[in-house]
Amino acid sequence: MTRRIILDCDPGHDDAMAILLARGTPEVELAAITTVAGNHTLDLTTLNARRVCTLAGITDVPLAAGCSAPLVRPLVTATEIHGTTGLQGHTWAEPTVHVISEHAVDLIIELVMAAPGEITLVPTGPLTNIAMALRREPRIADRVREVVLMGGSYTRGNVTPAAEFNVYVDPEAAAAVFTAGWPLTMIGLDVTHMANATAEVLARIAALGTGLAAAVVGMLGFYRDRQLHEFGTASPHVHDPCAVARVARPEFVSCKEARVEVELAGEFTRGMTVTDFRMRAAVTPNAMVGTSIDDGAFWDLFVAAIGRIPTRADA
Ligand code: BDR
Ligand code: CA
Repeated sequence: MTRRIILDCDPGHDDAMAILLARGTPEVELAAITTVAGNHTLDLTTLNARRVCTLAGITDVPLAAGCSAPLVRPLVTATEIHGTTGLQGHTWAEPTVHVISEHAVDLIIELVMAAPGEITLVPTGPLTNIAMALRREPRIADRVREVVLMGGSYTRGNVTPAAEFNVYVDPEAAAAVFTAGWPLTMIGLDVTHMANATAEVLARIAALGTGLAAAVVGMLGFYRDRQLHEFGTASPHVHDPCAVARVARPEFVSCKEARVEVELAGEFTRGMTVTDFRMRAAVTPNAMVGTSIDDGAFWDLFVAAIGRIPTRADA
């Protein structure tokens, strides 16, 4: 059965890959794409979402802009990874896809409330829009099918030694999302550091020979060089599409039940996702936590998705 998702994102290279994977995978249908500030300011993440939608001919999916700042703290961006425009590595044409006038938070509430048990939320940026939607309409917690987010980790951080970027940027929002009592899966760095765009993967995408494939290779090449510079990794971790893959093909990603709490007060641990797998009597689990991904199957899924999307002549 096709799974209807709202992809709430902050493109961002890997967010762009998540949009494309969702578009090109028959098991998933995009009900909406919503944007949030994170990798860059909201203006740029929204422009980048418009660019990706234009490139991939995504003209039939509502695109809505959301929150421009975290709930409490000042915005932290990731230009060192995603470049000054948030999506360097491809020369973008003027986008012809536009945002709708509705705010992303309103759109999320409207779509979830209208289709009880149907919509899966897939956040791949800071969780500000999702927390705001919960605050405005708490009943969405009972109406979503599930939440499958890219964020957090139980073994490491990236923006700090303790914290993953999406949770670090808006930890108060993340805390609200993790404790909302809805079915939630955390696809963190533990999983996404296994999904690396190796030279072989890039060659397979390039061999598709389409304009879209060339754009993807360009973006991933830029992303590779930035991650090499920042972290010394030869092949970049392509985080966000792992959450889409978990929805499309759950068997590709192994998960274990746990209790996840978000650190809000620590001096060195802001945004850490403290994950308790102990399953003691006093511990109530609130998440399925991704522990590994079949990276071969993941890249097969991704390459096939890129191959299915026709490139628009004007993109
Ligand atoms: C997450 O941070 C962002 O930079 C990426 O887009 C991804 O969502 C990885 O920590
Ligand atoms: Ca992201």
